[in-house]
Amino acid sequence: MKGMVFTELFELVEEKFGYDLLDEVIDASHLENDGSYAATGSYPFEELLRIVLNLSEKTNIPVPTLLEVYGEHLFPKLIKVLPFLDKEIDILDFIDSVENYIHVQVRKLYPDAELPTFEVTSKSDTSLSFNYVSTKNIPQLAKGLILGAAKHFKQPVDVTIGDAQDNKFLITVTKTS
Ligand code: HEM
Repeated sequence: MKGMVFTELFELVEEKFGYDLLDEVIDASHLENDGSYAATGSYPFEELLRIVLNLSEKTNIPVPTLLEVYGEHLFPKLIKVLPFLDKEIDILDFIDSVENYIHVQVRKLYPDAELPTFEVTSKSDTSLSFNYVSTKNIPQLAKGLILGAAKHFKQPVDVTIGDAQDNKFLITVTKTS
């Protein structure tokens, strides 16, 4: 399942920009296996960031925008892998469960998974704030995944990302209905 992070990115790039651009991005990224990823495989996360960087250069779309759009696309694909989770759940409870449940399951399957840490700082019925802590520093991917989850569970939210402090970004999710 970890390889889906790669295969789904390629699928989205091909859908939005066409196969030729995808090919150019793969070439420019000098990938170890020439970009022949399998959904069941496991690859260094750094390669994904290299692909997004080259995609940004070729499309003139900023990296943070690409990460957000990608996260939103990726969420419904990832959640299919854990179908028992696909039930009625409060969106804030769901996001709260990523750190202590979902990513824990991911790490059981892939001990080498490179995952962020979420430190919840406040939670109410309508709002959840947590520090996103990761060496990757890509809170925009988290934002996109959260927006994808909100769409999937049909519970719209606003997501804001605060300025970085000591490598932490405060992410606040607020229900909008
Ligand atoms: C709203 C929900 C979620 C959020 C906010 C979230 C956030 C993230 C972020 C930001 C990363 C990138 C790594 C980093 O920043 O350090 C990541 C990686 C990952 N997440 Fe999640 N995630 C969510 C749900 C899920 C679900 C449902 C699954 C699977 C069922 C999943 C599986 C993974 C995997 C496989 C990786 C990549 C690990 C690697 O390549 O080493 N996540 N997640």
